[in-house]
Amino acid sequence: MTEAILLQRERGLLTLRLNRPDKKNALTRAMYSRLAEALKEADADPEINAVLIAGSADCFTAGNDIADFIQQPPNDLDSPVFHFMLSLLECRKPVVAAVAGPAVGIGTTLLLHCDLVYVSRDAKLRMPFVNLGLCPEFGSSLILPRLLGHAKAAELLLLGEGFTGEQAAQWGIACEALGSGEAALAKAREMALRFDEMPAQAVRISKQLMKAPDRERIRQVIEEEGALFTQRLRSPEALAALTGFIKRH
Ligand code: COA
Repeated sequence: MTEAILLQRERGLLTLRLNRPDKKNALTRAMYSRLAEALKEADADPEINAVLIAGSADCFTAGNDIADFIQQPPNDLDSPVFHFMLSLLECRKPVVAAVAGPAVGIGTTLLLHCDLVYVSRDAKLRMPFVNLGLCPEFGSSLILPRLLGHAKAAELLLLGEGFTGEQAAQWGIACEALGSGEAALAKAREMALRFDEMPAQAVRISKQLMKAPDRERIRQVIEEEGALFTQRLRSPEALAALTGFIKRH
């Protein structure tokens, strides 16, 4: 079976590539576990200076696997998705993301915890949690209103409006929007490899300083959101929306 997460080392850069093209890189429990493990290993490995999370040149990810949401929903903070997101939050090395095509649900949420994000101009980002009977996750209910103001964040989180890579860059969710998926991947790789030339300890201390002021508050919000999200997954509203998606496919 093809690996759904491909790991590639290039000098001090570890690339985690989402590789489930037939399902638009939708993330399963096994994929979250592999991502969590790889992030923890990268964090502990003195030879690694940065991590790049990427999909393909035309698809980042369709978000959480919807069949998994129905059959094996996360129950608590001990679930694979929490392990992945907490290892992303705790990673002391810089994490870079390359986004092209769809970045749905957690595919957009996780960008809020990366250090550098490069997108293709026509990437399609969206957090349709409420549309699916769910609620925001992993700190997005705190981070997005701070970044965009309440009104714009409400469009994205309450209405589930989609937005482009170009808008993501304008709003500060991404560093830069590039002309194509290939260009976004190349730019993200180039910038991630730059950390090989930087003083590693200074980078780590600086990232720690940037993240420290909000760390505890974000963890607290993640727990609050997580408790509500796991409840919502079992709600009639969510079950109707999620089974509706499965029936349409
Ligand atoms: N979970 C499980 N399977 C998914 C999936 C998901 N989140 N997203 C897509 N897939 C599967 C489809 O079921 C389909 O599989 P099939 O060929 O076996 O029927 C395949 O991936 C291709 O999806 P399709 O919808 O035909 O591709 P598209 O290019 O027309 O649209 C998306 C791409 C991402 C816009 C669309 O698939 C989508 O909206 N997915 C759901 C996103 C979502 O709501 N995620 C959860 C957020 S909390």
